[in-house]
Amino acid sequence: MVNRKFTVLFLLLGGCTILAACGGGSGSNPGPGYDSSSGSSSSSSSSGSSSSGGISVSLTFENLYALAEFPIGVSVSAANEPYSIMQGEWSEAQRQVIEQHFSSITPGNIMKMSYLQPVQGQFTFENADALVNYALSRGIGVHAHTLVWHSDYQVPDWMKNFNGDKDAWLQIIEDHVAGVASHFAGRVDSWDVVNEAFEDSGYRDSLFYQKMGADYIETAFVAARAADAGADLYYNDYSISSQQPKLDHVLAMVDDFKERDVPIDGIGFQMHIHMGSPSIANIKASLQKVVDRGLKVKITELDIPINNPFDGSYSYPDNYQAVLTPELAEQQKLRFCEVVAAYLEVVPTHLRGGITVWGLFDRDTWLKQAFFDNNHEEWPLLFNHDLEPKPAAQGVGDALMGEECL
Ligand code: G3I
Repeated sequence: MVNRKFTVLFLLLGGCTILAACGGGSGSNPGPGYDSSSGSSSSSSSSGSSSSGGISVSLTFENLYALAEFPIGVSVSAANEPYSIMQGEWSEAQRQVIEQHFSSITPGNIMKMSYLQPVQGQFTFENADALVNYALSRGIGVHAHTLVWHSDYQVPDWMKNFNGDKDAWLQIIEDHVAGVASHFAGRVDSWDVVNEAFEDSGYRDSLFYQKMGADYIETAFVAARAADAGADLYYNDYSISSQQPKLDHVLAMVDDFKERDVPIDGIGFQMHIHMGSPSIANIKASLQKVVDRGLKVKITELDIPINNPFDGSYSYPDNYQAVLTPELAEQQKLRFCEVVAAYLEVVPTHLRGGITVWGLFDRDTWLKQAFFDNNHEEWPLLFNHDLEPKPAAQGVGDALMGEECL
């Protein structure tokens, strides 16, 4: 893995030449529904604020990643996606914040199946190569996402229409994993090998499961290890930190894999969680189950929205929080801090795969689409619409520095 702490280029680009991350940025107009008048945070741990993009703080540290001995990551948009870090109006400012605060990136979309093998046997690596090469040139590691995911949008059309028996299907899974993982071998630190293959009831009844049963998962892990012996291999899923049955299904698979020497290095907890749930006790108990098996634990997709359309606590639309108030920002800071502190408490040093947040700044969160069809704002991340650090970023830093969560 690349060691961020000795990257000369970072030193040249970093520090307080980066206005946005030092509390002095000006930025552009806040998005609709965003409270540009809420001004400074009431955070007791902050030493200043910037008013342009809503709530922001001056961090008490220079570089978030330097507070941890494990990867501190962020998922990014790339290629020609909206808010790409590789092109377009927000790209350079995003890269500056990434280089200052993160030691790992995850491509949020562009390494999924449909992007990398749009036509059977024809791999398109240009965009992913550009992103990975950018990261490596800055001494930033890459947690790659994801080799196999059933999600309709991510399965290329040729695969959806593929006619073949189980063996033929397993072969196309093996070919995809081998083609992709070998291409990036030596350049990425780790892979989400298989994503979201379970439900609370057991194996998810996806296209892949229908065609291959559970065998596609094992095939993917074996092919990934064969293609890249150096990368850590993760199984990645959501809703596995709440002590629901899904984690037990995942662990049963892990136990079976270990018994039969099927390669797997860790479990990725996506952690698309909420302000009120799951409880910290349940998060700890869930992480502990993986630690008990000697596997690495990686928080892969952490975000904590203010609104929760599902549980009634901040119900949409009747009780939609249309403004990120200083009070809510402080609650969010506490929540981020407690999650990171739980990780540090439960996961021993040698099993810490890292912590990655799912998106750099609130302007580019997937939850605006997922929750509100892009009709409302949401604020689940560490940096605000103008790329200024929020109290949430201080909360993560506080936990990493071993300070009390406030
Ligand atoms: O790039 C196009 C853009 O050109 C077009 O204008 C726009 C119009 O809809 O679509 C853009 O593509 C979107 C893409 O994100 C990039 O923004 C897709 O429609 C959209 O479906 C896609 O959503 C992604 C989703 O996975 C599905 O792949 C989200 O950004 C991404 O955050 C989300 O990530 C998943 C993880 O992979 C797995 N865990 C859950 C997580 C959240 O759903």
